[in-house]
Amino acid sequence: MAGKPRFNANWMQRHLNDPYVRKAQQLGYRSRAAFKLAEIDDQDKLIRPGMCIVELGAAPGSWTQVVCERLGRFEGRVRGRIIAVDMLPMEALEGVEFMLGDFREEHVIEKLEQMLARRPCDLVISDMAPNLSGVGSADAARMADLVDLALLFAREQLRTGGCLLVKSFQGTGFSQQVEAFKRSFRRVHIRKPKASREESAETYLLGKGLIAGQRVPAAVGSGTRTGPLGHTARARSTCVVRG
Ligand SMILES: C[S@@+](CC[C@H](N)C(=O)[O-])C[C@H]1O[C@@H](n2cnc3c(N)ncnc32)[C@H](O)[C@@H]1O
Repeated sequence: MAGKPRFNANWMQRHLNDPYVRKAQQLGYRSRAAFKLAEIDDQDKLIRPGMCIVELGAAPGSWTQVVCERLGRFEGRVRGRIIAVDMLPMEALEGVEFMLGDFREEHVIEKLEQMLARRPCDLVISDMAPNLSGVGSADAARMADLVDLALLFAREQLRTGGCLLVKSFQGTGFSQQVEAFKRSFRRVHIRKPKASREESAETYLLGKGLIAGQRVPAAVGSGTRTGPLGHTARARSTCVVRG
């Protein structure tokens, strides 16, 4: 117990001194994570007006704010479509379709597929992160599950040539994820934006240009799915859609 308050005080101090936290507050972003996506998009030009984008692990919504800005608006409406998913509630953003649900659950993915109605999307972005246990191997395995599911979803729902950006952890299993991306995308990049803390294992894997023939048909109603990395999902439960 003795260590806990000291850790919290350190965290709070670092948070208050963090230039990205201050900048996020000044610019009205919901979290400092906004600058991670903004930097990656400045470099890789992923988001363009008119696109259909699926965002996994969206709450509290700062990536969604960046996506909305970069899609732009015409006569007040977002130029494109954004479907955001999270297992936690998220304050509404105009023009964003939000689904509350756990992406590991079959039912949630099926609902997403229904929303897309067989129209392939242009970009999938995932900032999903498991609750960290502090046990490196367990955390890496949970993260690998999420990466695997995002990759499987992207292969089912992206158009040929589409892109996938996912958060991952450097460490056990990461090289297999890179290899799986290389089998599916023409170009694969590893991105560590400046706003991602150096001491954090967090890193982003970017697949650009889904290879024709790597698109796989969606396995609707199968009950479970196995991703390209061999991870299997999941239990059934309910999800709520807001749009
Ligand atoms: C780092 S936060 C995302 C921050 C967000 N990109 C932003 O800019 O505001 C990670 C999010 O992933 C969500 N998440 C983690 N596992 C998930 C899952 N299995 N299904 C849906 N959301 C998940 C968490 O609830 C959390 O809100």
